[in-house]
Amino acid sequence: NKKGFIFDLDGVIVDTAKYHYLSWKSLANELGFDITLEQNEQLKGVSRVRSLEIILGWGNKTLTEEAFAKYMAEKNDNYLSHIAQMDAGEILPDIPKTLNYLQETQQGIALGSASKNARKILQKVNLYETFQAIVDGNDVSKAKPDPEVFLIAAQQLNTVPTDCIVFEDSVAGVTAANAAGMISIGIGSDETLGHADYVFNDFTEIQTRFIEELINR
Ligand code: G6P
Ligand code: MG
Repeated sequence: NKKGFIFDLDGVIVDTAKYHYLSWKSLANELGFDITLEQNEQLKGVSRVRSLEIILGWGNKTLTEEAFAKYMAEKNDNYLSHIAQMDAGEILPDIPKTLNYLQETQQGIALGSASKNARKILQKVNLYETFQAIVDGNDVSKAKPDPEVFLIAAQQLNTVPTDCIVFEDSVAGVTAANAAGMISIGIGSDETLGHADYVFNDFTEIQTRFIEELINR
């Protein structure tokens, strides 16, 4: 019984959500305002362009096209300076255990991320070879909450969407998984991710037996 297990990257496999936040925060500060952790929840899973648009809205700022492009590049440079320091030690608890189990049981394993830096990050933490399919921000035309990223991942795994399970920490990502007709597993708080089929705080709360049940259903 082969299922497709599709993982979001930022905030699920590694805690890069904190680096995105730091980079956006320093950019907002430069523009004369601040962003809160609560606001940051709304940026998770959201593309780089869309994130900057939302942030500018919060600060009541408008930018010329040129300045917009400049700030986008600046944010990414800042973010990449954090990424450069990463190694396998940043893989979140029990992710390796889960991935090993899925490999042993010959499940499909894919990445479904909005990030254009996803491949780079997987290489940094030594997980690049673990994924049979990698679909990221370079491969899609419609961002989450559109289901495109997960539908392409299912296709690349040679599975149908109803045989896929998505792990997501973002509101937009859970919405996208649901729209794809997949089982959605929220990683985070019940308050934020109440629309997921299941919610766990992190992978240490996910028992092997639960994964086994997903495989056999
Ligand atoms: C993920 C993160 C977002 C980020 C997006 C684009 O979905 O959760 O916070 O904005 O990827 O990432 P990128 O690395 O391409 O800027
Ligand atoms: Mg995420």
